[in-house]
Amino acid sequence: MSKLDELKAELKSLGKEYAKIKTLRESERKAFGEALNAKKARILSAIKNSENEADSSALAPIDLTAPFAENSSPLPASKGTKHPLTTELDLVAEIYRNMGFTIIESRQLDDEFHMFESLNFPEGHPARDGYDTFRTREGFIPPAHTSTMQYRALTRFRSDLDNYGQIAVVIPGRVFRNEDVDVTHEHTFYQCEGIFVSKSATLGQLLATWKNFFETYYGQKLNIKTQPGFFPFTEPSLEFQIEKPAALGGKGDDWLEMGGCGMIHPNVLKTAGIDPDVYKGFAWGGGIDRLVMLKYGISDVRYFESGKLDFLKEF
Ligand code: DAH
Repeated sequence: MSKLDELKAELKSLGKEYAKIKTLRESERKAFGEALNAKKARILSAIKNSENEADSSALAPIDLTAPFAENSSPLPASKGTKHPLTTELDLVAEIYRNMGFTIIESRQLDDEFHMFESLNFPEGHPARDGYDTFRTREGFIPPAHTSTMQYRALTRFRSDLDNYGQIAVVIPGRVFRNEDVDVTHEHTFYQCEGIFVSKSATLGQLLATWKNFFETYYGQKLNIKTQPGFFPFTEPSLEFQIEKPAALGGKGDDWLEMGGCGMIHPNVLKTAGIDPDVYKGFAWGGGIDRLVMLKYGISDVRYFESGKLDFLKEF
């Protein structure tokens, strides 16, 4: 007899015990009844435990490492591939990691302070409108650029300045803009931000760093060009261009706009608790989707977010 059967038999036999109550003297009934009730409660709880044990041991053990059977699984995992943007973001992070940068991820919901104040956008400044931000009903902002992470990176790695003399962080992330969508514009896309701070950071180091990244990514030497730009969080601010890589049909006279950069504005350093009289910094940021479109000859940025299997299967 199993333990569970024994308990059930015991429970059944309680019936006879209860029947005895009638034969007892009035003064004895209460104590006898209470003792029986307590015994019944103990048996019922033991039965419950025993049933639960039986349930869990009845489950077949699952081998989480087993491969999916070809035709029986709803998830043909063996046939899945990484999204091309994920593959390229991993590669971008790897290149910067090899250059000595720490990689942190951005977030997908942010606020007014990180989007504007911390980046030296004065309240009511027209440059705020230039970012076409979405807003939630509660007033949060899905970040319109990865620069929203600058304050977080500067404060989080502030102690690196004392310990190693520099802050070197790269932040890939998803960004959102409320603008009309066409072959070159998406409301949801990816950017990558870089930040470097030391006592002697220079614009020359900035250009060399970003140039080196593009040369590694495209696997060839490239010429670069800059033009004056405007961003409230850098001074001076530059627009950064690379020559179209030869392997992608470039003949040396095509220039591609890759993003913005500059020396971090003293107000941005100050807000993050870094003394701009002692430290200098540079920052840069540009789109990832464009980079990947160029590399693979993808003609429409909307493919990335479309979930089109025909497109995804090519990677
Ligand atoms: N966040 C800017 C944009 O999306 C690009 C940018 C410009 C990033 C200058 C930077 C920078 O870090 O220093 O338009």
